[in-house]
Amino acid sequence: MDVSPGSATTQNHTAAMLLPLLFGSLLGEVAFAQNASLPDSAQVIDQKSLAVLETVDPPSVQNLSSVFLPPGITSQDASSKPFHVYDEAFLELLGSNVSLTLIASSAKDPLFHEAVVWYPPTDEVFFVQNAGAKDAGTGLNKSSIIQKISLAQAEAVAQGLNSSVDVIVVNSTPTVINPNGATNYQGQIVYTGEGQGDDIAPALFLMNPLEPYNTTQLVNNYYGRQLNSLNDVAINPLFPNAIYFTDSLYGALQDFRPWPTTTIPPMVYRFDPSTGAIRVVAADLNKPNGLTFSPDGSVAYVTDTGALEGFYGVNASLPATIYSYNVTAAGNFANRQTFAYVSPWRACIEPDGVLLGKIWVGSTVANFRFTGKGRMVIAAETKLYYVNGWGVEGGDPQDQY
Ligand SMILES: *[C@@H]1O[C@H](CO)[C@@H](O)[C@H](O)[C@H]1NC(C)=O
Ligand SMILES: *[C@@H]1O[C@H](CO)[C@@H](O)[C@H](O)[C@H]1NC(C)=O
Ligand SMILES: *[C@@H]1O[C@H](CO)[C@@H](O)[C@H](O)[C@H]1NC(C)=O
Ligand SMILES: *[C@@H]1O[C@H](CO)[C@@H](O)[C@H](O)[C@H]1NC(C)=O
Ligand SMILES: *[C@@H]1O[C@H](CO)[C@@H](O)[C@H](O)[C@H]1NC(C)=O
Ligand SMILES: *[C@@H]1O[C@H](CO)[C@@H](O)[C@H](O)[C@H]1NC(C)=O
Ligand SMILES: *[C@@H]1O[C@H](CO)[C@@H](O)[C@H](O)[C@H]1NC(C)=O
Ligand SMILES: *[C@@H]1O[C@H](CO)[C@@H](O)[C@H](O)[C@H]1NC(C)=O
Repeated sequence: MDVSPGSATTQNHTAAMLLPLLFGSLLGEVAFAQNASLPDSAQVIDQKSLAVLETVDPPSVQNLSSVFLPPGITSQDASSKPFHVYDEAFLELLGSNVSLTLIASSAKDPLFHEAVVWYPPTDEVFFVQNAGAKDAGTGLNKSSIIQKISLAQAEAVAQGLNSSVDVIVVNSTPTVINPNGATNYQGQIVYTGEGQGDDIAPALFLMNPLEPYNTTQLVNNYYGRQLNSLNDVAINPLFPNAIYFTDSLYGALQDFRPWPTTTIPPMVYRFDPSTGAIRVVAADLNKPNGLTFSPDGSVAYVTDTGALEGFYGVNASLPATIYSYNVTAAGNFANRQTFAYVSPWRACIEPDGVLLGKIWVGSTVANFRFTGKGRMVIAAETKLYYVNGWGVEGGDPQDQY
């Protein structure tokens, strides 16, 4: 979830970033080590040191958009040991040799935004450019692009054998317009497209992950009406043929899509390609954003990034919240509960909502994904990071490749 530091305009779409981490790792069988050792890349944060601060800064200094550093920790300290342990249980997840490596960067263009998807047959990772950021020039004027990297190259950078990975443009055909979210689906990749202007409707696109990267639109309307700007997409293991997705307001909030006063409220949907049926599964959200399921599919997690209003700033009184829902036998979402309210850092929280630890990248993170073998790829707008040596194999229930 993207409520980390950065300007309002770079905090736009935001995502499911912490969800795969949490549920992939933590709802599984995790035995917490008694005396796990601290890797060189990690530091322990004593939460007691945060309970009473000498000065609690005013909102003009400390707010949803600011970086919060625990007392006595400089930002240099924070990045030199980027794995921050808030609870001993995090150590077991980290393992003894975890590391974080910057593998690609761009000057200003937010090329590494969201939709991080691992495609195991080629061991490549796909991701998308920010579809609405001014520094990308995308949105109304041009579509965001899909790019990919090779994890073998990422490993070479982590080993110090290379300085960065090759970032390769994926020419989807026909083009996926303003892609924002994606996941593996039946051997291919399904993308949410945010649409463009009044005339190009948001849509779900299926893309072949191999050349010629041919695409097929799956759905682009709700009984004839345009949706707003599709954001994230996930597959529930209990309904592997269905596609769940969120529709949010970031197209309108970044001036490239109409407002919902003329379209439809922001909601969460289920689409069944076999029948063509589309239905709403949750409507009680301000700006539905990231979406994922527990490994057994019985619980849905939806982030609501209501507080982040794109080009229109931040409203801290609105949600920056992860909700959980029961998934009913019919596949609808019921019994919403507040799972966590997210502080402006990327976080890792266990099923009862306890903060375990954080990975400090010092800037906005919109998305990440486990990529097998203790590896993880983190998209942080102008920077792309690779984690290896993660202790517990993080399985993302969405990865149905
Ligand atoms: C953990 O450390 C304590 C003392 O520091 C020791 O008594 C205990 O056996 C250790 N536990 C494990 C699982 O190594
Ligand atoms: C939030 O804090 C930052 C400093 O961290 C400051 O620049 C910004 O103006 C503050 N925002 C508001 C709305 O006060
Ligand atoms: C620790 O990680 C580094 C970097 O990936 C790797 O070269 C090294 O072999 C690992 N060491 C152990 C003991 O796994
Ligand atoms: C779109 O293009 C117009 C005209 O070139 C320019 O003024 C505007 O800033 C561009 N918008 C974005 C988001 O890049
Ligand atoms: C190192 O980088 C170069 C240039 O980007 C690339 O061609 C080469 O395959 C990389 N080597 C490895 C081992 O990843
Ligand atoms: C891409 O083309 C192949 C060969 O025609 C086809 O089997 C596949 O379904 C297509 N994929 C998409 C997403 O259109
Ligand atoms: C912030 O959100 C609250 C709750 O929706 C609303 O009452 C208030 O007008 C908003 N403030 C601004 C400045 O948009
Ligand atoms: C829904 O979830 C709650 C916990 O959040 C659980 O107590 C309850 O039994 C669940 N209800 C159903 C119908 O599964």
